[in-house]
Amino acid sequence: MARVPKILGVIGPKGGVGKTTISANLAIALTRAGANVVAMDLDLGSANLHVVFGLRNVRHTLDDFLVNKVASLDAVVMDTAVPGLKLIAGGNVPGIASLPYQRKVKLLRHLRKLDCDYLLLDLAAGVTNNVVDFALIAQKSLLVTTPDVPSLMSLYSFLKTSVYRRLQLLFRSSGDARLLALLENAGDAEAHPELKTMADFFTQAALIDPELAERGAKVLARFDPLILVNRVKTASDMKAGRAISNLMDQFLGLHRGEILSIREDAAVGAAAARMQPALLSAPDCGFALDMRKLAGALGAASE
Ligand SMILES: Nc1ncnc2c1ncn2[C@@H]1O[C@H](COP(=O)(O)OP(=O)(O)OP(=O)(O)O)[C@@H](O)[C@H]1O
Ligand SMILES: [Mg+2]
Repeated sequence: MARVPKILGVIGPKGGVGKTTISANLAIALTRAGANVVAMDLDLGSANLHVVFGLRNVRHTLDDFLVNKVASLDAVVMDTAVPGLKLIAGGNVPGIASLPYQRKVKLLRHLRKLDCDYLLLDLAAGVTNNVVDFALIAQKSLLVTTPDVPSLMSLYSFLKTSVYRRLQLLFRSSGDARLLALLENAGDAEAHPELKTMADFFTQAALIDPELAERGAKVLARFDPLILVNRVKTASDMKAGRAISNLMDQFLGLHRGEILSIREDAAVGAAAARMQPALLSAPDCGFALDMRKLAGALGAASE
């Protein structure tokens, strides 16, 4: 039977926090641990994952598949210089950043058929429908933030949106207007302080429809994002992720968030200037060590 790829979404609502850098280098770390990997640029509109690999002239991009220029996704999968690693480059067709829903469904169907162990999605910044929908299909969300407050706040907002979206989809498909209305109220904390936390929400929801409330709680219990605090320089930077996981625990009912920190490393910028991933040009740098640790945490075998 064909293997089904484990889909990892690399998400960071704030721009420039390191999503593309981590996608490229983690992809290499996973291949070095023996896995077959496809890294895919889903930053539709300002794609640059191929640039990190030093590839300037790309024959086919994901856009060619999305606009039906090529019939199969295989036609846009490119080899890289790294054994075991393939790439799907993004294009820059105007307007593609907000993909119609049917196109996303078609893309998803084909993604699941890719022959690899891991499919890494390098997503765009922001909390657009594209990002939220693609994040939902990933089995594991890797949430990238830098230790500064604006980035941490964006991350928290993204998590909150994800939690509401997951519950909204469940309640919609179950056709329960009362729980949908309650959820909407919970989203407006100022008007509804009695629904400030997800625990408050579930207490109320259980009074309305205990069985559906229970299913909602299970949906959240399965959501186990991994928070990556990138560009860590000091001991206090390392604590930044803790603040978010406390908020997740207290307000969003997400008790399974894990945190890993990735250090700031001059080798990353030096590698980028040479259009090479740091894992290739400086395989023993601190950042490379952190990438290998991350690959291990994601279940890849150690070298
Ligand atoms: N751990 C690190 N140490 C040093 N520099 C880093 C590190 N991580 C990322 N950078 C640098 O930060 C910059 C932004 O990184 P990157 O392009 O990966 O972010 P991004 O989140 O993909 O951005 P965008 O939101 O625009 O897609 C790059 O110049 C990269 O070299
Ligand atoms: Mg990027």
